[in-house]
Amino acid sequence: KSINSHGVVAVTGDEKEIKESDIKRVIDAARIIPVSAEEDILHVLPREFIIDGSPGIQDPLGMSGVRLEVETHIIKGASTSIQNLVKSVLRAGLSVDEVVLEPLASSQAVLSEDEKELGAVLVDIGGGTTDVIVFHEGSIAHTSVLPVGGNHVSNDIAVGLRTPVSEAEKIKIMHGSVLPDEIDESEKIEVLAASGKERKKLSRKMLCQVIEPRMNEMFNLVKKELDSAGSADLTPAGLILTGGASLLEGSERLASDITELPVRIGEPDYVSGLSNVIDNPVYIKKGDTIPRAIFSTAVGLIEFALENGDAKNSNVSSNTVSYTHLTLPTILRV
Ligand SMILES: Nc1ncnc2c1ncn2[C@@H]1O[C@H](COP(=O)(O)OP(=O)(O)O)[C@@H](O)[C@H]1O
Ligand SMILES: [Mg+2]
Repeated sequence: KSINSHGVVAVTGDEKEIKESDIKRVIDAARIIPVSAEEDILHVLPREFIIDGSPGIQDPLGMSGVRLEVETHIIKGASTSIQNLVKSVLRAGLSVDEVVLEPLASSQAVLSEDEKELGAVLVDIGGGTTDVIVFHEGSIAHTSVLPVGGNHVSNDIAVGLRTPVSEAEKIKIMHGSVLPDEIDESEKIEVLAASGKERKKLSRKMLCQVIEPRMNEMFNLVKKELDSAGSADLTPAGLILTGGASLLEGSERLASDITELPVRIGEPDYVSGLSNVIDNPVYIKKGDTIPRAIFSTAVGLIEFALENGDAKNSNVSSNTVSYTHLTLPTILRV
């Protein structure tokens, strides 16, 4: 869950010059929001600072004024979900340095500074969820997590074509498209029957007719989310799609038709150091291209740790998820 919150403090010191401590105090003031016992604050993200009534300041350090205000975007998560996630990682023999909201990490790897400045929305379609994050004037304006993703599409295929889910997953990746109208009736695919024994021939168009409604629903939820957050007009740089399920053929077109925004597929370009991971043959498909969009979050987490690691460590509050130390080589080895 996320909300926007405002903080205000008087600038201390004789010169009325804004110091690191004033910035910390005003952010702490903004983080005083109702938090239930079941929730933890994951992130307090400054959107803009206001000095003596002048808005739009990104970095107030060293500027002069008597009254410092901040607009923040605060992200909360369910404590038990976070604890379970941390426990799983610990049991896998790793340690946890910090918990980062997934779209925040993905956007770090995928969006350009210009896109964030101009206003853009990142839609990261994963397995169980679709994450939405809106940037406006360089900062985060809105985030949300929608409960629909690629796994729902696979389940629809399993039911619709009467085939095991594992087979549905495979044929989705190999033959799926979100634009059934573009597919010729004569194109056939082979699908394992539900019994798991014999294979049957079906039209590819039929497969895509099963995929389309779910993806259509998903992009309509994204559009609704943008409309209700008032973000639709604030994103002239358009919609950037990433995550595994964005790789479905035609998803750019469908997303653009529904949201009425320009759409591109976003992928991390900074993956050279991870080549031993991404060259894994399980990821290579169709024409030997590596589907980099599935690495957006992982690459973003590494970039996030490099950029924010030490700075974040110094102002952990009791509300922040507790963590031990994680070194970069550990992340890279996962
Ligand atoms: N090449 C592909 N074409 C279509 N769907 C894909 C492709 N690769 C992965 N997916 C789908 O993407 C989803 C997983 O996306 P991912 O971003 O890895 O998820 P998560 O962030 O939830 O871990 C799965 O539903 C999977 O079927
Ligand atoms: Mg993901």
